[in-house]
Amino acid sequence: MQDYQKILNNIHKTLSQVENKGEVANYIPELAKVSKDKFAIYLNTINANNFEVGDAETAFSIQSISKVFSLAMAFANQGNKLWERVDVEPSGNPFNYLSLLEREKGIPRNPLINSGSIVIADCLVSSLENPKEDFLQFVRDLANDQSIDFDKKVAESEHKTGFRNYAIANLLKSFGNLENEVETVLDFYFHQCSIAMNCKQLSNAFFAFANQGICMGGNACLTATQAKRINAIMLTCGFYDEAGEFAFEVGLPGKSGVGGGIVALLPNEFVITTWSPGLNDKGNSYLGMKALEQFTTQTKSSIF
Ligand code: DON
Repeated sequence: MQDYQKILNNIHKTLSQVENKGEVANYIPELAKVSKDKFAIYLNTINANNFEVGDAETAFSIQSISKVFSLAMAFANQGNKLWERVDVEPSGNPFNYLSLLEREKGIPRNPLINSGSIVIADCLVSSLENPKEDFLQFVRDLANDQSIDFDKKVAESEHKTGFRNYAIANLLKSFGNLENEVETVLDFYFHQCSIAMNCKQLSNAFFAFANQGICMGGNACLTATQAKRINAIMLTCGFYDEAGEFAFEVGLPGKSGVGGGIVALLPNEFVITTWSPGLNDKGNSYLGMKALEQFTTQTKSSIF
């Protein structure tokens, strides 16, 4: 086995000498309070070894990383019916882009941009008895950790400033691709994005995607085919208009969030999560991308 701890320590040391050109997200005011100096990596291998550096057990706002969890839950519950309301093509546009949705008559390009994730939220609101509670329980079970929770302050902060998401939800409603009230669906969406998790919990929760759908606790959360399809969507759509760059530099399926987290995985091998809150101009973590590029280069491990 490679000396993963040495590799992580080395990446941490190298990046501490690199100028962090990223900026902390401030369009959700509560996120702007987080220090740009936080940095962590947590690696979880399929045969249950784990390695960490930095603030790997400090929780942060998972934001768009939650879109993978809601997709997984809706896909597990509803199967291929989902694809009637959302496509699986890369968007090549920012995560909160509106024009494409208008042109394509309310069918979002994929479930990992805001419009697609709002449609998925609508599916879950329609099908779950207690949508927010049931979704939180799904994430807790995926991570095998019952302490995970929403951050109500972050949800409230986004509720007050989520004007673009209101525009997207209204556009979806006008095209008949939102069954529930805009306010109800966005309340669910803002809560899913507000979940606070640390790098260790995220790596554990993504274990199922690297492990053919079997989660940390040993239960089959997804079928192997569903896990394969979600990985394909992460690879092509997980980084918005930087999905090509991430595949080029890192070469793994993954998902970013504006809280500065990135989770990436190599099927049947490992899950790796990085956290550095400074974002590049595409909304992806500046140092997180660099850390993952160094990791896959040094370990010679990518899907390519
Ligand atoms: O809807 C939003 O704008 C945020 N709750 C999530 C955006 C996000 O994390 C984009 N990721 N890089």
